[in-house]
Amino acid sequence: MTPRGTRRDDTVLGRARVSDTPELEAYYAELADREAGALWTVANKIEPWYPQPQSAPVLWRYAELRPLVRKALDLVSADDAGRRVVMLVNPGRRDVSAAVGLLYTGLQIMGPGESMTAHRHQAAALRFVHEGTGAWTIVDGEKLRVGPGDFAITPNGTWHEHGNEGDDGPVIWQDGLDIPLVNALDAGFYEVHPDLHQQPGKVVNASVATYGGNLLPYGAEKWARPYSPLLAWPWEATYAALRGLADAAEGSPYDGVIAEYTNPVTGGSVMPTMGAHMQLLRPGQATRAHRHTGSVVYTVAKGRGVSVIAGQRFPWRKGDIFVVPSWAWHEHANLDDSDDACLFSFDDFPVMRSLGFRREEAYADNDGHQPTL
Ligand SMILES: [Fe+2]
Ligand SMILES: [Fe+2]
Repeated sequence: MTPRGTRRDDTVLGRARVSDTPELEAYYAELADREAGALWTVANKIEPWYPQPQSAPVLWRYAELRPLVRKALDLVSADDAGRRVVMLVNPGRRDVSAAVGLLYTGLQIMGPGESMTAHRHQAAALRFVHEGTGAWTIVDGEKLRVGPGDFAITPNGTWHEHGNEGDDGPVIWQDGLDIPLVNALDAGFYEVHPDLHQQPGKVVNASVATYGGNLLPYGAEKWARPYSPLLAWPWEATYAALRGLADAAEGSPYDGVIAEYTNPVTGGSVMPTMGAHMQLLRPGQATRAHRHTGSVVYTVAKGRGVSVIAGQRFPWRKGDIFVVPSWAWHEHANLDDSDDACLFSFDDFPVMRSLGFRREEAYADNDGHQPTL
C-alpha cells in the first residue's frame, strides 16, 4: 500500500543523501571498530516520514486454530507447559513473539479439573473467553468466574492463577499481554507465588459486585492504583450496553457503535499499557476507513463480516482473530443484513496517549473506502 499524502522524496533538503565512496566506507569501518557510526547512513530509516510497522495485517481462523489448540491438551500437561498456550505470531515480529506491534496474544486451553499455579509478572494480561463454562481465575485473592464472551484483566504485578472447574469440556480463552513492550523496555520480572496458590476471598466476582453497577462505593477509601478495580466484564452486560448505545447514538463512522471497557473510578483505560473495546456493527453496516498510531488485536465476538486492512480483505466470523498494525488503513463491514456483529479488541492506545504519540486520520477519497488489492 502506498499511504497517500505522506510519501515524500528523501532527496529533499534535510534528508540524508550521501553516496558511498572508498574513503567513506573506510571511515565507517573505523567508526564501527569503536562502537560508533555515522547517523546519515541510517537517519532516513530510523526517522521515517510516517510509521513503518514491521507487523503485517494477519487473520487467524478460529476453525483452523481450534483443533490445534485442542491437540495441545493431549501433547503436554498443564504442569509441564506452565501455561498451555498456542501463541499467534506475526510474520514480521517473530523476533519478539508479538501478534502485532508490541502486543502478544495466544489461545490457552484448560481441561476439566485443571488448574495452574499462582505467579505474577511485570507484563499486564487480559483474557477474552472463547468457549467453555468452567473457567476461573484468582486475581490478587479475588476469584472470578468467566464464561464465553467475558473479558477480564490481570493488571501488572497482581498474583494470578487459573483453572477450569467445569465438567463439560475444555475452556479456551485468549490471553492478551504487553510482554513485547515490557521486554522492549527491559523491564520484565516474573515470580512464582511462595505458596504456589492464593487463598481466595469468600465472594466470587467481588469486584463486579462492588464496581460493576455504574455506582461507586460511597465513603470507602478511594481506589488509587493505576488500573481498574473492576476486574471482569460479563458478556451479557457488555452486549446489553452496546445495544443500548446503538439505540441512543449514531456511533463512529470508523468503528460503528463502540465502547471502551473502563476503569470506573477514573473513566480511563482498564490498565496503563493496554486498552480494550467492544464494538457493534449494525446489520449490513460498513464503516469508513481511518488509520491511527497504535496496534490493535481484534477478536470476533459475534456475527460475520469483513475488514479491509492496508488494502487487503479479511473475511471473518465468530472466534477469528485479526490484527491491525499501527498507521494501517482499516475499515470493517458486517456482512449479515439481519443481525449485528460484534468485535472485541485490545490495543496499546493508553501507551500512545500517555506518551503523546496518538495521531489519527480519515481516509478522504473514494467515499472513505480503500481500493482493495
Ligand atoms: Fe501470568
Ligand atoms: Fe481504528
